[in-house]
Amino acid sequence: MGMTGERAPICEMLTAYAGSRRTAFHVPGHKQRAAWHVGNADERYQPLLEWDVTELDDTDDLHHPTGPIAEAQRLAAECFGADETRLLVGGSTAGNLAMILGTAEPGDLLIVQRNAHRSIFHGLMLASARAVLLPPEIDRESGLGVIPNVQAVAKALARYPEARGVVLSSPNYYGMAGRLRPISEVCHAAGVPLLVDEAHGPHFGFHPDLPPSAMQEGADLSVQSAHKMLSALTMGAMLHMRGTIVNREAVRQALRMVQSSSPSFPLLASLDLARRQLHVEGSKAFEPALEAVRRVKEGLPDTRFRSVGPRNDSGSGVGDGFRYDPLKLVLHDAEGRLDGFRIRDGLSARGCEAEMADARYVVLAFGIGSRPEDGDALIEALRDLSADSGRSDRTPERPRPMAMDGGTADIPEPVQFRRDRGGRSESVPLERSVGRTAAEWIIPYPPGIPELYPGEKINEAILYRLAEWKKQGANIQGAEDPSLRSVRVFLAD
Ligand SMILES: Cc1ncc(COP(=O)(O)O)c(C=O)c1O
Repeated sequence: MGMTGERAPICEMLTAYAGSRRTAFHVPGHKQRAAWHVGNADERYQPLLEWDVTELDDTDDLHHPTGPIAEAQRLAAECFGADETRLLVGGSTAGNLAMILGTAEPGDLLIVQRNAHRSIFHGLMLASARAVLLPPEIDRESGLGVIPNVQAVAKALARYPEARGVVLSSPNYYGMAGRLRPISEVCHAAGVPLLVDEAHGPHFGFHPDLPPSAMQEGADLSVQSAHKMLSALTMGAMLHMRGTIVNREAVRQALRMVQSSSPSFPLLASLDLARRQLHVEGSKAFEPALEAVRRVKEGLPDTRFRSVGPRNDSGSGVGDGFRYDPLKLVLHDAEGRLDGFRIRDGLSARGCEAEMADARYVVLAFGIGSRPEDGDALIEALRDLSADSGRSDRTPERPRPMAMDGGTADIPEPVQFRRDRGGRSESVPLERSVGRTAAEWIIPYPPGIPELYPGEKINEAILYRLAEWKKQGANIQGAEDPSLRSVRVFLAD
């Protein structure tokens, strides 16, 4: 990358704009001035407003960029190894919707990882696409789902040669990243693109200890939440495009459909700065966070808590066909006294807020803003919790993986995704639902992998798994009847 990578075109434009002292007769209504006086809120708010401008000749237009936004996107593409990058102001959610809408027309078929984020399924619904849902491989050590294996993807592509693409989600929330290179090769041999929801991996590929990025592994489209691990503001994300298999104009058009026509300039500027930080600091940007994790791992043997993943202090480590993100620390109580929720609550009471918890694990997310002393604070809290906690009345269980092996199972039938717009569905007792088509989601938390999708045919195996979740007392989301006595199904199949 040349010296131009040190530039931040959107920030430069906004700084020049703020200094130009023009009188605004255009939106936004605040006219770059704090409009009320509540304590010191306006003092905090005022600096934000100075960059909150609209599309003018010199500020550029996200949907048809020709000035600083175009330049910022070009620099981002160079930095992230893409042919073209689009800045996103609606999170990876907007990117995932556009990725699907830009690839599939109504009735088209996609091969999709079953344990994907909701936004992928919302994209399938908006596109009225069909999807073959592939189960992920389950990591034996942790019981967590990663991505489907390459054999399953190859088998699905052979069975459904009409598929328009393969959609994967990697890394998962726990920082486990699938090996994408063999899968991108299989996709390209079949002439279809590999689309990757890489929301949790915007930092991948920027340090030798981090797994490679989806772009580096041959993906054609990838979506990253720059706000999750880099320094962008919340909702700041990027969509990267490479190669000639995807119809880039269709993706751009989809972005115009799902994103606001008045995107936030402070958000765009934060993406510009997040990219610039990687360009200027390179791998050094991650050293403080990696040091923080090292400090925690060094102290862990003095506690009851153990981390999932490689035992070495640094490095992404190599698991069973996948890699670990060293910036996600996934802990559990080796003595089984505290479940993940209680570890989270115990840490919170000691001033450390975790990213997520489930029945077994707590996930601590480090990021580009983490400092080594954050690691000291965490290990101190863990030591204290380790010494303090009594016996839990709940026995923590490993998250129960669904009955899937990610490879050798038969490739399932496609699901036609559709929305229930009311009046076309009914509620039936669960035990009488076999053969009917679900009109709602059933998502047990944790692990948050949907068991049932609107549009999916209910069979005995699904019924059995739902009964298992009920027995475990799982928290069911999405369902009209969370007790699962009844389920909503479409009237006419
Ligand atoms: C795997 C995955 N994809 C996409 C998203 C959506 O990202 P965003 O919150 O940036 O819209 C999330 C959010 O947590 C996620 O976990």
